[in-house]
Amino acid sequence: MLMVTGGAGFIGSNFVRGRLETSDEGVINVDKLTYAGNLQNLAQALHNPRHVFIKADIADANIISDVIAKYSPRAVINLAAESHVDRSIREPDSFVQTNVVGTLCLLKACCEYWKRLPSERKDRFRFLHVSTDEVYGSLEETATPCSEAAAYAPSSPYAASKASSDHLVSAFHKTYGLPTLIANSSNNYGPYQFPEKLIPLAVHCALTDQEIPVYGDGGNVRDWLYVSDHCAAIEAVLAHGRPGERYNISAANERTNIEVIRLVCRLLEEERPRSDGKLYERQIRFVSDRPGHDRRYAVDAKKARIELNWAPAETLLNGLRKTVRWYLANREWVKNVTSGAYRDWVAFQYRRPA
Ligand code: NAD
Ligand code: DAU
Repeated sequence: MLMVTGGAGFIGSNFVRGRLETSDEGVINVDKLTYAGNLQNLAQALHNPRHVFIKADIADANIISDVIAKYSPRAVINLAAESHVDRSIREPDSFVQTNVVGTLCLLKACCEYWKRLPSERKDRFRFLHVSTDEVYGSLEETATPCSEAAAYAPSSPYAASKASSDHLVSAFHKTYGLPTLIANSSNNYGPYQFPEKLIPLAVHCALTDQEIPVYGDGGNVRDWLYVSDHCAAIEAVLAHGRPGERYNISAANERTNIEVIRLVCRLLEEERPRSDGKLYERQIRFVSDRPGHDRRYAVDAKKARIELNWAPAETLLNGLRKTVRWYLANREWVKNVTSGAYRDWVAFQYRRPA
């Protein structure tokens, strides 16, 4: 059995769906179902007898220990997190609660369980923590991409909470010997991403005749990775990663935000031109910048390529085309997840200055 946390979110649900298709192993999926977690993301998987969904908070020590004791997983993959930088700027508390306290709770439960395993199972057990390139902080335009040896320099409360959780994971390896692994991935995109993140937000705004908000001058650089390539990397880290190590995951697709948004607009023109003949690009609006906005992220994934034999399969153009097509085919999904609390958030986040 594999235990996955956060498996109803964007990356987690892509991972769980992929796993159930390609492996016979069962999956225990523990997710609190915050605004970002959605059982619609798992519609097929919910009928699969090899998938057990448990609605629970990773910071709930009793439930987590019970689940681990009941299902006796051979590995735990921690994807549960508060993941949106803008929300962390407005309200950092839940980020510390889930990303730091929740990860600590999971580590403690796993450590107690692991210590009591018979030696063969103990040797094979892994705790894989899914982290981010944001922990390394902002890079100058000409700086070489960060290796795993780079110092942590997080900027936002989100990045700081992820950095804290990474340090706790490493501490559990060094102090107690827990066989941990960390994967530090760059920006993901693809199906089922909540439309608060740049790419699905741009598609949603374009299709609903709203302004497409670009922060600052649009020159901030992110490094884009198609979600199934990240899921394959997680599999590779789990299978071949050395306990105690971290692995950077990236497809080296660095682009400015405005380049990405123009590409999304171009793909929308090809797939679903506006009925009035106007260009989607006309909807782009430069808006107030994100406070503390990191200028550039870039990580070097050489270690994952060499040690794990992992390589991304998707090009940015093809991955974006597939993503745009998925959002066009799944307008109902977007409508459902963008109701209620999400709309209040958007109204606050993109309000015009008084
Ligand atoms: P997401 O916000 O789409 O999903 C997070 C999931 O975690 C949701 O299903 C939510 O319900 C669940 N969750 C939140 N708090 C929880 C708690 N206390 N207990 C149990 N479940 C809880 O996030 P995502 O984009 O899929 O990211 C998944 C992981 O990957 C996160 O750890 C994130 O830091 C990391 N990551 C994301 C990206 C990216 O570009 N999206 C890149 C690198 C790393
Ligand atoms: O780098 C990995 C990280 O990528 C993950 O750890 C995070 O969980 C994930 O949310 C993502 O963080 P970013 O802050 O890079 O993603 P976001 O989609 O919020 O923003 C991408 C870029 O686009 C960033 O430079 C800010 C900008 N942006 C974002 C929004 C929401 C805009 O210009 N306008 C917007 O409306």
